[in-house]
Amino acid sequence: MKIEEVKSTVKTQRISSHSHVKGLGLDESGDPIQIASGLVGQADARQAAGIVVDMIKTRKMAGRAVLVAGPPGTGKTAIALAIAHELGNKVPFCPMVGSEVYSSEIKKTEVLMENFRRAIGLRIKETKEVYEGEVTEMTPVETDSTAGGYSKTVSHVIVGLKTAKGTKQLKLDPTIYESLQKEKVETGDVIYIEANSGAVKRQGRSDSYATEYDLEAEEYVPLPKGEVHKKKEVIQDVTLHDLDAANAQPKGGQDILSMMGQLMKTKKTEITDKLRKEINKVVNKYIDQGIAELVPGVLFIDEVHMLDLETFTYLHKALESTIAPIVIFATNRGHCVVRGTDDIIAPHGIPMDLLDRLLIIRTLPYNREEMESILKLRAQTEGHSIEPDALHYLAEVGTSTTLRYAIQLLIPSSQNAKMNGHNSILRVDIEETTSLFMHAKESCKILRKCADKFMK
Ligand SMILES: Nc1ncnc2c1ncn2[C@@H]1O[C@H](COP(=O)(O)OP(=O)(O)OP(=O)(O)O)[C@@H](O)[C@H]1O
Ligand SMILES: [Mg+2]
Repeated sequence: MKIEEVKSTVKTQRISSHSHVKGLGLDESGDPIQIASGLVGQADARQAAGIVVDMIKTRKMAGRAVLVAGPPGTGKTAIALAIAHELGNKVPFCPMVGSEVYSSEIKKTEVLMENFRRAIGLRIKETKEVYEGEVTEMTPVETDSTAGGYSKTVSHVIVGLKTAKGTKQLKLDPTIYESLQKEKVETGDVIYIEANSGAVKRQGRSDSYATEYDLEAEEYVPLPKGEVHKKKEVIQDVTLHDLDAANAQPKGGQDILSMMGQLMKTKKTEITDKLRKEINKVVNKYIDQGIAELVPGVLFIDEVHMLDLETFTYLHKALESTIAPIVIFATNRGHCVVRGTDDIIAPHGIPMDLLDRLLIIRTLPYNREEMESILKLRAQTEGHSIEPDALHYLAEVGTSTTLRYAIQLLIPSSQNAKMNGHNSILRVDIEETTSLFMHAKESCKILRKCADKFMK
């Protein structure tokens, strides 16, 4: 018996500096609330992002691209991550940075294509034979190990499952005991076990235990109706890249079930174009048959000016294909040379023909009040207490330098405050930090003034 385990290849996101951002903070009519969900101001950009989210959710955006452009530190990355939050975990969101394409091991276009396919989801509906119910007992039965010695091995496991209709006792393979442990199943949990593969899925705690503990993380589900042994529609969300990676060395037939069966393997093999075409073919077939549904997600390419002409051309072509995600670019560049060319100067460093098909969202610099609110949010998430006049001062520092610099001053200032014996950050603590840690502009000025003292 084989355990079917879906190994997702979702990338972890760069959110630490954006951990206060929880969403776009829009009201029901899609208008931005000045301070909500961790975002402050930047009203037009947020409203526009809200419209993009709606278009993505109603699947009207596949193959389109959006550019978020504005000066550094104006919240472009933050807004893109807010879009990811709004889309929820059912829509794939794949973040990458332009410079990721430069690797000595993998071709540039290969990196792009991989991320493209990470951003396209597939929802597969399958009817499976399952055993479902609330776990009433779970007893591993041990026997003496055949390998000799004193060790014992689990020969089988007895699991009792209860539904509204009745109870059934199952004698199961030891491999299933392992997956029961992996899913952290305890008595009182509602689970189902797939009859063919033996895969175990924990659905939540039975709601008859709802009053027992008050763990907020716990999800309570009702006692399943019907028989223990039954047919159940199981929905699985994977991305095209999951399928590519799993089938890089295909074994068995090319039907979707064996494709899914391959998902647990994580070997690093090259994914060829031929394989992708093959997978597309199978996927298309299953979409036609109504078993699977395509969910175009978002590919977010931050610092897009880092891409070069070759990758831009490739992207342009990929956007035209029938299976394409929504691409969101972000950049803080104005007119600059397109990488990979000697003299083609283009707005945002993006070739004109690609730029022509983008919808552009603009972000604007913040005023002092907005900076103060953002700094306050950051101080809260990072767990610093800060005096109002210190916050005011920090916002002023931010307006004369950049928001990012002001945010970065928070941690050293709080350290300073501790060393100075203050319970919360005072203005003097910040003044001390600004004298210790320089801002980029200031450092530039010094470099220019004392150029002769540095190595050339
Ligand atoms: N409107 C906002 N509300 C709350 N926090 C914000 C807002 N805008 C920016 N921030 C925070 O300020 C910091 C800098 O913003 P962010 O990294 O999004 O800027 P950016 O526009 O992507 O800059 P760059 O062009 O340098 O990449 C981040 O920590 C971000 O979370
Ligand atoms: Mg950014």
